[in-house]
Parts: sequence; C-alpha cells; structure tokens
Amino acid sequence: MFSRLGSPLAIGPVELPNRIVSTAHQTTLVHEHLPNEDFVAYHEARARGGVGLIVLEAAAIHASGLLTSHTIGGYLPTVVDGYRRVAAAVQPHGTRLFVQLFHGGREQIASAPRAPALAPSAVPSARFRTEPKAARADELEEIVAGFALGAELAAEGGLDGVEVSAAHRYLIEQLFDPALNRREDAWSDGSAFLLAVLRAIRGSAPTLALGVRVSGDSPHGRAIAEVAISDGVDYVSVALGESSSYLGSVGIVPPAPVPEGVVAEHAAAFRLGPPVIATSRVVDPERAEALLEAGVADAVGMTRALIADPEMPAKAFAGNARSVLVCIGCNTCIAHYHAGTPIGCTVNPRTGRERTVPPLGREPKGLRVVVAGGGPAGLQAAADAADLGHDVVLLERGDRLGGQLLLAERSPGGAEMAGRFLELLDRRVTAGGVRVDLSTEATPEVVAALDPDVVIVATGAAPHVPDLPLAGIEAQQAWILLAGEVPTGRRIVVVDWGGDPSGLDAAELLAAAGNAVTLAVASVTVGEAVHQYRRNLCLQRLYRAGVEILHHRELVGAANGAAELRNVFARELHEHVEADLLVLAQGRVPVNDLAEALRELALRVEEVGDCLSPRSLEEATLEASVAVRRLSVVA
Ligand SMILES: Cc1cc2nc3c(=O)[nH]c(=O)nc-3n(C[C@H](O)[C@H](O)[C@H](O)COP(=O)(O)O)c2cc1C
Repeated sequence: MFSRLGSPLAIGPVELPNRIVSTAHQTTLVHEHLPNEDFVAYHEARARGGVGLIVLEAAAIHASGLLTSHTIGGYLPTVVDGYRRVAAAVQPHGTRLFVQLFHGGREQIASAPRAPALAPSAVPSARFRTEPKAARADELEEIVAGFALGAELAAEGGLDGVEVSAAHRYLIEQLFDPALNRREDAWSDGSAFLLAVLRAIRGSAPTLALGVRVSGDSPHGRAIAEVAISDGVDYVSVALGESSSYLGSVGIVPPAPVPEGVVAEHAAAFRLGPPVIATSRVVDPERAEALLEAGVADAVGMTRALIADPEMPAKAFAGNARSVLVCIGCNTCIAHYHAGTPIGCTVNPRTGRERTVPPLGREPKGLRVVVAGGGPAGLQAAADAADLGHDVVLLERGDRLGGQLLLAERSPGGAEMAGRFLELLDRRVTAGGVRVDLSTEATPEVVAALDPDVVIVATGAAPHVPDLPLAGIEAQQAWILLAGEVPTGRRIVVVDWGGDPSGLDAAELLAAAGNAVTLAVASVTVGEAVHQYRRNLCLQRLYRAGVEILHHRELVGAANGAAELRNVFARELHEHVEADLLVLAQGRVPVNDLAEALRELALRVEEVGDCLSPRSLEEATLEASVAVRRLSVVA
C-alpha cells in the first residue's frame, strides 16, 4: 500500500523521505513580513504528521514584490531567525524544508496604501486592478540580485532548498509573455531573466536544492521549464492557474467541483528529466499513489489535503487512510488568505490554531453528552465528543443527518463538497459509537429523560420569511425546493438577498431541470458571501445554463403573476418580472427555543453554530469543536 508514495526521492542534493509535498501556500501567520510562532507550530504539525517536503510560502525577494502586508520578506536579514525557528521545528521529523522565492510583478493583492507596481511593461492587470509601470533595466537587475539574496538568507536560515516562482503569471511568467513583455532591452527575453535568476541563486547558495514552479496549463509553462532544466534545476513543480484573471485564478486553488487530480492532464508534459512535483486537487493518498504509478509525476503536492489533516501521510502509511480528515475543496483556506486572516479549515478547526486549540485526547472522565441537531455543527460536536471518550446521543428530528449540508448536496456547486463532508462526519460519528436517534424532536422532556451532563444545542436555522405582500404569485422558499421536488418547464424568478448560497444553489438546480430562470440579486456582486473562486465557477455555470441575472434588485412585493423588484441603489426604479413561481432566498433566522427551556430545567447547555446566528459551515464546526473541548474543563 502506498509503496510509491512512501518511497524516498532525491531532489538534487536533498533526499525526501516520501513523495508527499506541502507546496507553497500563504498562511497569513506572518507578522511584519516575518513568520510568527503560529507559523512555526503550523508547519511543525505537518512535519510531525509525516509530510516529505514542505515548501514555505512565497517569500518576496524584494520590497516591490510583496503581494500583501502578510507576505514573508525573503530579502530581510531578520528572516534568517524565522527560517531557523521553522527549520528547528520541522527538520527533526525528517521533513525537508524549502522556501519559494517570489516576485509578483504587476500583481498586487494588498489594499491601499499600495507600493507602486512594477512589471516588464506597463500593462494593467484586471483582477486586482493594478496599473504597473515598466521596470527600468536596473530595477530588474536589482530583482535578480534579490533572488540571490533571498537564497543566501534561506541557506543561512538552515533551509534545504529554494523554489523560484515562475508560475501563476507572476513576474517571471510575465517576462515570458509577449503580451506583457514589450521591452526592447536585454530583458525582452524572459529566458535571459530566468537564467540570470537561476545563476545568481546558484552563485549565492550553491549547496541548496533549486527548483522552479510553473503553471502546467500556461502557454509559457513548458518553455519556462525547458529553460530551467537546461540550466540544471533539481526539480519542476507543476501547479495550475494564473493570477491576473477571474477565471484563471480559480485554477490556482481549484475548488470542488473541479475534478480531482485535474493536474494529471497537464503534468505529464513536464517529465523532461528532473523530478516533477504535480499539484492540484489531489485529495486522497490513493489518487496520489495512482498518479505516481501512471508516471504523471515523481512526487505529489497535497497542500489542501495537508491543511485539512496534517497527519494524513502518517495515517496513510500506517494503513489508516480511512481516518483521514479529507479536504472537501471548500476553499476556506484561501478565503482566509484573501480576507487577510490566519489560515483556517472547515474540516479541521485546529488548522492555524495549533498552539491554542489542543488536539483531541481521551478525557479521563466520560460525560453523558446529548447533542440536539444533526447538521454540521451537531455532527462535528458529536464526533469530537465521542473522540474525547464521552458517551454521546445525537437527536435529529429529520430522517437523515446533514442539516443544510443536505441542501448544498443537491446543487451542482455544492454536491461534492457537502457529500464529502457528510461522509466524513458520518464515518466519524459511527466510528465513535455515537447513538443516533433520527426522527426524534429534541424537546426538553426528551432531552431531560436522557439524563445528560451537558446538552449541546445545534438546532440550526430556518429560512427568513420576509414581511412582504406576496399574494398573487406562487412563492416557495429556496430551502424547501432544495430539500424536495424540483419543478420543470416553468418560468421562475429566484430572488436572492446575496448572503447564504441557497439562492444560487436553487437557481442552478432549477435551470438544470429545464426551467426558464431569472436570478435577481440584491448584493453588489453575485455570490458576495461565497469565496471568489467558487463564485466564479458558479457564475460560469449560471451563464452557461442560460440563467438571466438581474443585478442590484431587491424584492418588494408580488402581484398578478409578477414579482416587483426595486433597484437597491436607485430606489425609485421598480420593475415587474413575470413568473409562475417565485423562489425566495432572503436570509435565515436562528432556530433556538430549546436552549432556554433546558436552562430552566437547570441543565448545562452549550450552543453552537447557526442556532446562535446563521453563518457558514466554518463557524459551525469551529464552535462545535471549541465547545466540546470546554466540556470537561468546567464539568
Ligand atoms: C491559502 C493558499 C495560499 C497559496 N499560496 C501560494 C503561494 O504562496 N505560492 C504558490 O506557488 N502557490 C500557492 N498556493 C497554491 C498551492 O501551492 C497549490 O498549488 C494549490 O493549493 C493546489 O493544490 P492542492 O489542491 O493540493 O491544495 C496557495 C494555496 C492556498 C490554499
């Protein structure tokens, strides 16, 4: 089992103990451009879990290349101390440690005040709306020197290797792209720049392994790899996507339902000599082993898989792959990066909190825990409480576990994500020996009769019913539709307030079932509360399905078979849209009568998730995990 994945691999002067790689990813565990203590703990957890190689996140090699205020300053002398602390935590576990050396060129994610953007030529970039100046030749030379300095500091910090970012249409790829490099000087040739960078690095840090990262789906990826290989790089890391466009950026961290292992079709073309690391949506060790067996790559990046479960390699190699907390492709991790908050993970609330949220050990004194509600918060609470050794009863009033995950599971965008998470939670609850009572309303009497030491209330949410005049049209909640029969052949208007994804999910589902769908959205952008990569793919599917999108329209009423919509900015503008069904996605309200009634019975109560106020899956699992860890402390 996993004989290939578990075998060592030589990368230049360095031997990896196995072929699972945590590729470069921004953690936002960086303060004043230096790694903080949480950063060290985060990577130590992954090294302890058995990953073969960690490539630390993009470290700017020059101040002009900082993407955000949380980018590591790989040019700062003080970074050496940070590297040393990470190396001291990671390398004793046998994991090898590289850092990615980076310059974003015209790409800048930071908000104002932004530094001036530098690029090969003055070509604006759409996604982050940067308008760079063309770098002077001497500025590009300074950047080459920055790569040399970055590598020297990495060597001084005790790292094993460096990787040059030439992927994602950042500076080096920009230099290879004739649409972006209109120079007429020596740097009109991207190869010349890359060779100068590689040689400068070899000159300043000759003992380090040296690799290059390219985007396998870029028209320039192969040329970049060939130049790098001609100069003797020790490995090629194949990623996907590019930063400058909405759709291209989705490929950088492709969410579900992008097919798993999507990198396979691109990576094989890069097997040109040195070892290839292939990365993107490889979630299971089984799939990683299959990629190696098929000869697609020599090692596999499993970055989000490790964000979700740092122990994944150790579990897989110990024959325990079924207990892995599997990545569901929800992209909470990259959503945190874009929001400027420390890395987090929906399926693993400890991610990014390794120093503050303790692992689940066995409690010496098991408690009788009753969990009311079998949605994601209740399931997470039940699974975690069972792992801690408590005696758990889970009450669910429906005839299936899952709560809102069951709604998400119906939609094209949510099916894989919700399905995987449900499977994971279900497996954990079963393995933990939780008693599950379905079709059981958690009334105060039912709960009290179970004689609990503590009750975890996770009763979730219900759709908000707007106080609007809606007579004269058939209206239905998006939730009801997602939970039941889907009509066909009708003219339907979905009115979406722009928050939770039920309106988008319903619109997609209805369009796929052959209805003529208009989606009226009240927020500034469609899917404003959904992470941009998932939102972009959702928009792609909506447009392809022929859904008509009306922006900035809120529902004010309905009569005579037409919905009345108002422009949220120019409120005097009203219009009537005919429909034979109006689908409402107007927000949610918490469902929580139980907690108060239980307190009156003098029972100890913890409330978690949407019953406190409806939010995302992430808060549901986080609050459940934190509440469960509190149980014995105050018992
Ligand atoms: C939060 C986050 C930050 C990332 N930052 C970087 C980065 O600094 N440099 C880079 O080359 N790729 C970056 N990536 C892309 C990953 O290295 C990887 O290619 C991507 O997550 C797809 O692989 P996976 O499906 O195994 O997660 C980032 C990904 C995530 C999730």
